[in-house]
Amino acid sequence: MKKFSERNQDKLVIWARELSYRYPDGTNALRGISFEIQEGEKVAVIGPNGSGKSTLLTLLTGIRRGEGELKIFGYPVNKKNAISIKKLVGIVFQNPDDQLFCPTIFEDVAFGPLNMGLSPDEVKQRVDEALENLGLTGYENRSSFHLSFGERKIASLATVLAMQPKLIAMDEPTSNLDLSHRRKIIRWIQKSLETIILTTHDLDMALETCHRVIILNQGKIIADGPTEIILRDQKLLEKNDLELPLSLQKSIKKTRFKEKKEQRTKNKKQI
Ligand SMILES: Nc1ncnc2c1ncn2[C@@H]1O[C@H](COP(=O)(O)OP(=O)(O)OP(=O)(O)O)[C@@H](O)[C@H]1O
Ligand SMILES: [Mg+2]
Repeated sequence: MKKFSERNQDKLVIWARELSYRYPDGTNALRGISFEIQEGEKVAVIGPNGSGKSTLLTLLTGIRRGEGELKIFGYPVNKKNAISIKKLVGIVFQNPDDQLFCPTIFEDVAFGPLNMGLSPDEVKQRVDEALENLGLTGYENRSSFHLSFGERKIASLATVLAMQPKLIAMDEPTSNLDLSHRRKIIRWIQKSLETIILTTHDLDMALETCHRVIILNQGKIIADGPTEIILRDQKLLEKNDLELPLSLQKSIKKTRFKEKKEQRTKNKKQI
């Protein structure tokens, strides 16, 4: 009998088996990873620098082609399915300048929908919705060259949202953001109904937004499970050059302080 995952692989958003990728210079960035992502899941991929997180996102979005098997929404990732996959998947790069290149934000956000062949009215509606969703209404005529890094980062997300992808891959969505822009992104991820896979070093953000965490190290999956379990496992995190999210460090310190206090009171009573 086939395993559950094999029977239902066409219904999965991502189905990867023994996925590997080697850069032309010989660097082995991914070494045979297997995982699945179901519709509506929000998954954080974490791991030390150079562990293969960004490379993985480029494979999922068809920017790079690896070895092994990979299906996105049931489509094997290959040349024949490239257009179908492109319509379903959006990637938000770590650097917003890789995404913004038009004279105005309106044109940047309209670029994808225009290329999808939508009518001017539909394009305008998509742009308005995407900008409103991210609190960028009013930025239509501004140029990305004059926006701050945080504003550009949010605008780059708008360019992807306007294409209404079903799977959104985000590379380090909160890196280099101030508190308010970070919060904006967190709120958007929390509210989003799409399937999301993101890479991050911001474990507090992962804790707040994702149901599931995958740890990558040296191109291999070291752990894959519920966020609440993985991000509380101090030993596992430290083994992989990571540390507990700050919010958990504080709550663990508080619990230990409380336990010590209770113990001291108990000891005093016994005396
Ligand atoms: N264009 C490239 N050519 C050769 N090697 C590369 C290239 N891009 C990345 N690598 C290497 O592939 C490995 C994985 O890199 P990747 O960028 O996927 O890591 P990462 O987990 O995203 O790291 P970070 O946390 O720093 O963003 C690293 O060893 C890196 O040096
Ligand atoms: Mg990276």
